[in-house]
Amino acid sequence: MQNNLSVVVLDKNQNSREIIKSYLEEIDLVGDIKLYDDYTQGFEAVKEGNCIVIMDISSGGDDVNQIAGSIKLYTSKLVITSVDCSTNTIINALRMGAKEFLPKPILKSDLERVIAMLYAIDGEEDSSQSKIITVYSNKGGIGKTTIAVNLAVELAKVTKDKVALIDLNLQLGDISTFLNLNPTFDVNYVIRRLINKDEKELIQAFEKYKTTSLYVLSDPSYIEQSESITPQQITMLFEALKKMFPYIIIDMSSNIDGNSLKILDCSDWILFTTIVNIPAIRNAQRCLNLFRSRRYPADKVKIVINRYMDNEEIKIEDIENTLSQKVYWKIPNNYFTIMEAINKGISISEVNANSNIANNFRDFASKVSDDIIEQAVIKYRA
Ligand SMILES: Nc1ncnc2c1ncn2[C@@H]1O[C@H](COP(=O)(O)OP(=O)(O)OP(=O)(O)O)[C@@H](O)[C@H]1O
Ligand SMILES: [Mg+2]
Repeated sequence: MQNNLSVVVLDKNQNSREIIKSYLEEIDLVGDIKLYDDYTQGFEAVKEGNCIVIMDISSGGDDVNQIAGSIKLYTSKLVITSVDCSTNTIINALRMGAKEFLPKPILKSDLERVIAMLYAIDGEEDSSQSKIITVYSNKGGIGKTTIAVNLAVELAKVTKDKVALIDLNLQLGDISTFLNLNPTFDVNYVIRRLINKDEKELIQAFEKYKTTSLYVLSDPSYIEQSESITPQQITMLFEALKKMFPYIIIDMSSNIDGNSLKILDCSDWILFTTIVNIPAIRNAQRCLNLFRSRRYPADKVKIVINRYMDNEEIKIEDIENTLSQKVYWKIPNNYFTIMEAINKGISISEVNANSNIANNFRDFASKVSDDIIEQAVIKYRA
């Protein structure tokens, strides 16, 4: 086997650096090994190219946190180690973008396993950690696109990870209008021409939103193109996306048909959106029954209340009782800020970063990413 992996070790403890080095030297896949106790110097080595980084955060400190947060911009192959194995530390490590957390003292067998895993996913996202989050409502005009767009923008800002925003409202999509994009390619082109190509070619079909890490794929330019897209092709699209993006946000139509059911079935999370009025909640009840009949896991469907006002006659507890489920998130009513964002083709936070609704979307994105990280932590605690 080729020994071509280069590994950068950042660890302030000399003994620990030497032990990791001795373990790495016995792994055939590993070629170049660089050791640093100075994290700023080590970071310069990380910037040089595609390497595996093993970084100890036991000492804490702002420099450690800041450098760990920036490493994921240069490599996705980050392993974090610490003598402290508390849930908080593991959450912190995953939030910094670690693919794996290894408790100290490191076991040789653990290090071998992790290096083999990182070698296997070389150049690709680990699709098992990627999440497809679909914003859905079985009623039109409820705010699906507003939520999908602004959640995706804020998720990209909060996590600095690659976020995909896909317009699967195949006939009436309007994400490109919401973000004032003029896309060259669309979902139809990707499905027909690029699905089996490698990541570098595929990602060029996406429009990057300004300087963020958000990548947008628009709905087909012609309605008739959307008619020939099949549920099988949607599955293939999702498989390809999962290899490229840790977060995939889907906007779709309210219809229930073969393609919609495929999208909903394949999603990891459904942000099921409703507003506080009796007809909307009745509709929501019917749809949640459909989800139950399809045996979706309990934590897959999350209820989001849009256009919420504190003085509503119908209380959140009434909605929770009717729907037999807790509300996951509430988004305030703020028509003017949202309309300004839509009319200017920018995100809500760019209209007014201090508005109640911009703050709400920032907190919403943090909660979504924290909850996903917590799900991943369960694996370490199992
Ligand atoms: N939190 C909110 N406060 C005030 N107005 C809102 C809010 N969310 C959405 N709206 C308004 O509701 C309208 C419909 O929003 P949007 O287009 O996002 O809905 P949709 O569910 O995607 O609709 P469709 O079913 O047509 O795709 C927009 O004009 C938007 O300004
Ligand atoms: Mg819409």
